[in-house]
Amino acid sequence: MENHETNSIILEVRKKLDIVQVISQYVSLVKKGKNYFGVCPFHDDTNPSMSVSPEKQIYRCFSCGASGNVFSFVQEFEHLSFKETLYQLAEKAGVQLQNISYTKKNDQYDKFYEIYQISHNYYLNNLQTNLGKKAKAYLHERSISDEMIKEFQIGLSLDIPDDLIQLLIKKGYNLSDLNMIGLANSNRDLYCSRIMFPLKDLSGRIVGFSGRRYDGIKDNKYVNTKGTPIFQKGTILYNYFDAREAIRKKNQVLLMEGFMAAIRSITVGVKNVVSLMGTAMTKEQVDLLKRLSNNVVLCLDGDDPGREATLLNGEELEKKGFNVRVVELSDGLDPDDYILKYGADSFRSLIENAISFSDFKIRSLRKGVNFSSDKEVSNYINQVLIEASKITDEIRRELILKTLAKDYDIGYNTLEKRLSTYLEKTPKKESSPPVQIVIKPKTLKHNKYELAEWSLLYYMLINHTVRNWFELGKFNFSTEQERFLASEIIYYYKLYGTLVPADFYTYLQDKKELLNLLNHVLALELEDEVSDQAIEQYIRVVRENSVNLEIERLKKTMSEKNDPLEKARIAERIRKLKMGSG
Ligand code: CTP
Ligand code: MN
Repeated sequence: MENHETNSIILEVRKKLDIVQVISQYVSLVKKGKNYFGVCPFHDDTNPSMSVSPEKQIYRCFSCGASGNVFSFVQEFEHLSFKETLYQLAEKAGVQLQNISYTKKNDQYDKFYEIYQISHNYYLNNLQTNLGKKAKAYLHERSISDEMIKEFQIGLSLDIPDDLIQLLIKKGYNLSDLNMIGLANSNRDLYCSRIMFPLKDLSGRIVGFSGRRYDGIKDNKYVNTKGTPIFQKGTILYNYFDAREAIRKKNQVLLMEGFMAAIRSITVGVKNVVSLMGTAMTKEQVDLLKRLSNNVVLCLDGDDPGREATLLNGEELEKKGFNVRVVELSDGLDPDDYILKYGADSFRSLIENAISFSDFKIRSLRKGVNFSSDKEVSNYINQVLIEASKITDEIRRELILKTLAKDYDIGYNTLEKRLSTYLEKTPKKESSPPVQIVIKPKTLKHNKYELAEWSLLYYMLINHTVRNWFELGKFNFSTEQERFLASEIIYYYKLYGTLVPADFYTYLQDKKELLNLLNHVLALELEDEVSDQAIEQYIRVVRENSVNLEIERLKKTMSEKNDPLEKARIAERIRKLKMGSG
């Protein structure tokens, strides 16, 4: 990205996009004063500590310090290279990019993505040939139509031990790469005679496969791509890339176990769904969910492992501040079976009536309790009361007590008294925390000299007089970094005649230390209107600092000298500096 043309395209794209609008597509933002606030997606958080400034076209997180412009946000969020980000945003902004020499070849993994794309096309084609007849019949048998095969890009690996490998080797790829990226096992295809589901990474590239047996094979129902440089099962969610829009629109994500569940659900129009590919949920997957929505509906299989996973995963998600609800499927059904058996409307109404996670926990406490044993019943009731004490809605708590009182013939007051002892122990949690803006007092750490210097830098960014005064030598900075940033500001103005912080970010993007300093400076959040007197006051503080520093330097030199005459000369200079005539 060195040529002028590219720079002006970056500028054009940046100008055509509003950072608030772009970030809103990833994170929900609330306006407060001049700025917008939302939960920062770049660290583990539930508070809205990220601010987005429509004026400066930048974002900043008070908590983790992440900051930048529209490019850096999308780049970090989507895990893209700068070029890929520029491509994506240029498209969004309607800016033509033909003139940019965009060579994809320099990404070290491009070869792997290429191999996956070729393999994917190969599998897709197999299913449409004569050799795919049996697999197709199997899919049709399972009510997977040709349209669905197309939509979900389902393919087939053949009953030939090295068909794919031979094809890839002919195209010039080497066997060791094919082994490394999970398509070969020694000199054979890893997948033979399986229905192939492509797995996409967070930017929608195919990076893995899950192959389902369908014909006679007795071993594993699914074979998944092992960990490779471009794929880790625990770091993706099936359908993540394709579901983002639907999830944002509904501000709700359905979490399922399997592909078939997701595919069926999408086919009947419920599209805000992602799958874990099993029951285990990793921390990375929780982070991915956080990017999508705070409202999760757990919709795992209706069997014992599914219920256990619902308890475990629900607990984890609640801890991370999600609002969790649960769909319980009967008779061990998964969403796929359920929809085929009871229809889409029935499924939709299950989702609409999803119960709260605490209700689910209370229900599941019943399991295995011997209700003819007084001891077990009393233990059970205590457990229920403990769970009930975590529910913030008083009406729901009362309903639980009433049901218990009726079902077990216990005095309501007795139950209420016991509940109140648990209530005291439960830390108060707000049911849906209102937007509170947490500003960590990070910015208060620096001393008055640093504050004055950074304030001057801040005003150099937005105020012409302050820039002039710097150029006239009315003040200077004490560190090399600060001087460097100041001269970059001056240079930038000479070049462009104007400075939008968001574009200045792009300009500095290869100078990490300067960017860092710029962040600190912008973090000051000063009033943009400033009087000359206020600037002069900053300058006095800065001068005082430079005098002090000079005195210290001289003292040090003096202590290193032996010649009494020289010592005296230095002492005189120090005296003059102290008197303010240095
Ligand atoms: N899974 C897996 N390996 C297995 C079994 C399951 O990776 N041996 C993952 C798959 O991602 C699967 C999910 O766990 O989609 C849920 O498993 P299961 O409910 O058994 O599969 P279904 O998706 O229901 O598939 P099918 O209906 O074809 O049996
Ligand atoms: Mn199934």
